Amino acid sequence: MTHLLHLDASGRGDSFSRRLGETFVAGWRATHPDGVYTYRDLVADPVPPVDEDRVDLATRSSAHGVRDIETMDQVAAGAPGTARSWANTRPLVEQLLAADVLLLGVPMYNFTVPAAFKAWIDHVTLPWLPLKGKSAVVLSARGGAYGPGAPRERFDFQEPYLRAYFSALGLDDVSFVHTELTHAAVMPFLARFRDRHETSHAAALDAVRDLAARVRAGTPS
Ligand SMILES: Cc1cc2nc3c(=O)[nH]c(=O)nc-3n(C[C@H](O)[C@H](O)[C@H](O)COP(=O)(O)O)c2cc1C
Repeated sequence: MTHLLHLDASGRGDSFSRRLGETFVAGWRATHPDGVYTYRDLVADPVPPVDEDRVDLATRSSAHGVRDIETMDQVAAGAPGTARSWANTRPLVEQLLAADVLLLGVPMYNFTVPAAFKAWIDHVTLPWLPLKGKSAVVLSARGGAYGPGAPRERFDFQEPYLRAYFSALGLDDVSFVHTELTHAAVMPFLARFRDRHETSHAAALDAVRDLAARVRAGTPS
């Protein structure tokens, strides 16, 4: 039975990345009626910033050569702070390990991912975390344009960052869907880009429907 883990990180409710996520989930449910679906809104239900106990947890994990969740239980139990931190992090790690497909609603904030999503990354990531064999679908929305040839192409620290992050953990099957120029929909001085935005959003919705029908663990994108 396939398992989808869906995270949202847009700061607003009426959001393009959230809408892409809803479209994906509707399609995925139709093709996987028995699939398991887990959802977390990282803005309504945030993961806290990294603190001293979480840093100690990572240090202990590396120092003891931890390679699995059970050994992490033993190592974390060595101090009250790391035990507390691991009690918070463990369910996030379990959710991630149980998932075959990660669906990530991640807008561009200041050229990269929102802090709410980065906090989740900083908590779940431990050097031994195996993500090999999973697939990830990243649903992004951007106020501007960052595609090939765009004046700000080299300002995109969102897609290259996420590709590098997942690749370092053995996950190379990552698909990106971008809705671009979303500012044109609401900012009068960008009205001349409205057509390009609408074309980009329509293409993103098509791409999301297609991915929802064919994505499975480890499927090449
Ligand atoms: C804090 C913040 C930072 C942003 N930084 C950028 C940026 O660097 N580049 C950009 O193109 N748009 C930027 N935007 C605009 C968002 O990417 C755009 O509104 C997008 O549609 C947000 O995704 P959403 O519709 O899913 O909420 C930013 C918006 C916010 C709120």
